[in-house]
Amino acid sequence: MIRKVTIFSLTAMIFMSMFTAPVFAASGDTPTIQQQQQMVNVAHRGASGHAPENTIVAFDKAVEMKADYIEIDVQMTQDGKLVAIHDTTVDRTTNGTGSVGDYTLDEIQQLDAGSWFGEEFAGEQIPTFEEIIDRYQGKIGILIELKSPALYPGIEEKVAEVLMQRNMHKPNNDKIIIQSFNHESVQRSKELLPNISHGVLAGLTWADVTDEQLAQFAAYADFFNPNMNIVTDELVDRVHTTGMMIYPYTVRAQEQADNLFQLGVDGIITDFPEYVYKHPVKN
Ligand code: G3P
Ligand code: CA
Repeated sequence: MIRKVTIFSLTAMIFMSMFTAPVFAASGDTPTIQQQQQMVNVAHRGASGHAPENTIVAFDKAVEMKADYIEIDVQMTQDGKLVAIHDTTVDRTTNGTGSVGDYTLDEIQQLDAGSWFGEEFAGEQIPTFEEIIDRYQGKIGILIELKSPALYPGIEEKVAEVLMQRNMHKPNNDKIIIQSFNHESVQRSKELLPNISHGVLAGLTWADVTDEQLAQFAAYADFFNPNMNIVTDELVDRVHTTGMMIYPYTVRAQEQADNLFQLGVDGIITDFPEYVYKHPVKN
């Protein structure tokens, strides 16, 4: 399955590189701007191709670019506060070192989470989960990833508490989705928040996911969100047959977005929201 996608992608990339965008749109083989706008646009860690990931500036950029959702990675500090950061250490995206779980909130918020991406972002802080919810609810959807939840016992309850305090756990709130690579954590969260949509993240090891496994996921999840490299039109159809939707990650090229659209996905998780053609980016 992976080989099939890889060959297709390479062929598509070579083909696409031979033409300009207006030529594709007229060809009938490539989605038009209007067609592609139907695909849900999730800004991965915010508009992280344009600003430092999991920071307010990256999330604000996603809102400005009219993405449908921001995706955030939620972990927990030593003193039990929820924060948005991807890696389980602060080393790559801040000027500090060490594990997220060894910092108190006060300590972790003293780190500079912007300079690594560009000097103009110096002083950006690691935001709290509550700050993100309060700033963006009603402005943009929020796709919450429980990141490495096995390191943070009780994180599902803490996330649920924040949402319930704000009355965001009611039926039909399609602006919040909770997902994780840890499927037991997804099930736990679904039990706590039965009216919130949940998603199963699936890395490359799920390339041969069976119909039976998909049906098991569909018992508690609304989304099957795989690594984009395992997506085929056949997988998309099988996911849809279970009633789930599919938002592959992580799109970092226009050709990848175009290819996934043609395979029939419901949305994409991308560092570059402009690939869904809603708005050209202005830096
Ligand atoms: O939302 C999907 C994607 O974020 C999963 O991968 O490593 O970027 O958290 P990662
Ligand atoms: Ca993530």
